[in-house]
Amino acid sequence: MTSSTWTFFQAFLRSPRVVASMIPSSPFLERRLVRAAGLDRARVVVELGAGTGGTTRAMLAAMRPDARLIAIERTAAFVGPLERIGDPRLTVINGCASTIVAQLERLGLDRADDVVSGIPFSTMPQDLAADIAREVHRALAPDGHFVAYQFTDKVADFARPVFGQPRVEHELRNVPPLKIFTWARDAASAAA
Ligand SMILES: C[S@@+](CC[C@H](N)C(=O)[O-])C[C@H]1O[C@@H](n2cnc3c(N)ncnc32)[C@H](O)[C@@H]1O
Repeated sequence: MTSSTWTFFQAFLRSPRVVASMIPSSPFLERRLVRAAGLDRARVVVELGAGTGGTTRAMLAAMRPDARLIAIERTAAFVGPLERIGDPRLTVINGCASTIVAQLERLGLDRADDVVSGIPFSTMPQDLAADIAREVHRALAPDGHFVAYQFTDKVADFARPVFGQPRVEHELRNVPPLKIFTWARDAASAAA
């Protein structure tokens, strides 16, 4: 077991409803997230629930040299591994996903081109989940994308009122197998 997998597992034992998975995502899931979000075009990307940084590294590898990645992670034990990635494009914030807009403003950044999320919408308080879905919508540029990888469909219950219907893919080569939900923000605006 690598040290980041061990850090992840220990954090899961302490807070299973927050960390939501016993081990980090697989490289198969990481690659699928990168494709779903179209990160090669993005200038500002927000990651919600970066964990120990596997998804973060995969996203950075696909991003432009002049892009920015803002990783918002609630579990303090994951901040060290994230900061050790040491990529100048990455800003790590130990905080809650409900603060995206304020964090972007604080950093002098305009809206995000993509928000990629692994936070567990099914186990957090329902009010917070609804707040975060609205916050993601506010934070995204009109042609931005919201990509969420989840074990259950719960994220769609919260996101559908603001984003409309998602595209859904499955990644079975992950523990546990996950669904990947993708929303295009302007698709929802056009339908409204
Ligand atoms: C399933 S893990 C995903 C970790 C990593 N991205 C991966 O795929 O391996 C979910 C992550 O979301 C974080 N998290 C949970 N609730 C959060 C919130 N409200 N704001 C920010 N991060 C949160 C957890 O601490 C955990 O790191």
